Amino acid sequence: ARAQNDQVEPVIGVIGGSGVYEIEGLTHKAWKRIESPFGDPSDALLFGRLKGKRVVFLPRHGRGHRIPPSQLNYRANIDALKRAGVTEILSLSAVGSLREELAPGDFVLVDQFIDRTFAREKSFFDTGLVAHVSMANPVCGRLGHCLQQAGDTLGLTMHQGGTYLAMEGPQFSTRAESELYRSWNCSVIGMTNMPEAKLAREAELCYATIAMVTDYDCWHPEHEHVTVDGVIATMLQNASKARHLIETVIPLLAEKRALCPQGCQRALDHAVVTQPPE
Ligand code: ADE
Repeated sequence: ARAQNDQVEPVIGVIGGSGVYEIEGLTHKAWKRIESPFGDPSDALLFGRLKGKRVVFLPRHGRGHRIPPSQLNYRANIDALKRAGVTEILSLSAVGSLREELAPGDFVLVDQFIDRTFAREKSFFDTGLVAHVSMANPVCGRLGHCLQQAGDTLGLTMHQGGTYLAMEGPQFSTRAESELYRSWNCSVIGMTNMPEAKLAREAELCYATIAMVTDYDCWHPEHEHVTVDGVIATMLQNASKARHLIETVIPLLAEKRALCPQGCQRALDHAVVTQPPE
C-alpha cells in the first residue's frame, strides 16, 4: 500500500490553532467524524477542495475552542488525518515571540523544536511494538520551501528557520522561564506543536509549522505581557494573511506527490526494534 502511496494525489491536512476554526474558500465542503482507536479527535474533519486540490481541515482545539493543550488527543488527531488520506500537514499555530526581531503579525517557519511538555501521550508505539523514529529534522524541508515561496509571492514578513519551545501550560510562562528559553536561543513559544510533530513523523506524514507571532510573551520591557485577548485579537487580524498563504501554497504542493526528499514517508524504515513473530 505504501509503494502505491508515493504516487497518489496529495491531500493537504491543515491543523488550525487558536483563532483558526475553519478555512474559508473551500468548495465541496463536508464535516465528517473519523473514528480512531486512539480515542476521539478534537472535532469532525472538514473535507473540501481549495483551487481544486483536496484539503482536510481540523480545528486543533475543536470548534468553539473547547479543549486545552494538555487535554488534546494528539494521537487521535494525527491518526484521524492519516485515515482521512492526508499526506502532508500544515500546522497553523499562534506563538509568543522570544526575539526582538520576531514581531507580532510576523510568520516564522520554524525548523526545530524543544519539547518541554510532560503530560501528554507522545507515541503511537506501545508495549508490543517498539520504534524510535529520527527527529533530527522535525520539519519537512520540501513543505518549508513551498511555504517560503508562497510567502514571498504574497510579500508576507516570514522568517525562515527558528526553534519552537513547546511548553505544557495552560498557564503562560513566568518571566524567569521566558528568559531561560531566550538563553537557549529559542525563537518562539507555544503549547501545542509537541507531540504533534513527533506523531506526524511516526505516522510518516510530512509536517511543517506556520508559527504566527501574537505577542512578546512576558520578557519584553516595552510590550504588554501576553494575554488571551491579545493573542486572539492578533490572530483575527492575521486570519486573512494565513488564508492567503494556505491558498497560495496548496497549488505549489499539489503536484503528483513524489517521494519526499527528506524521507518523511519512510520514517519507519529504520526505526522498528521489535522482531516480527517467527
Ligand atoms: N501562544 C501564543 N502566545 C503564547 C505564549 N506567549 N506562550 C505560550 N503559548 C502561546
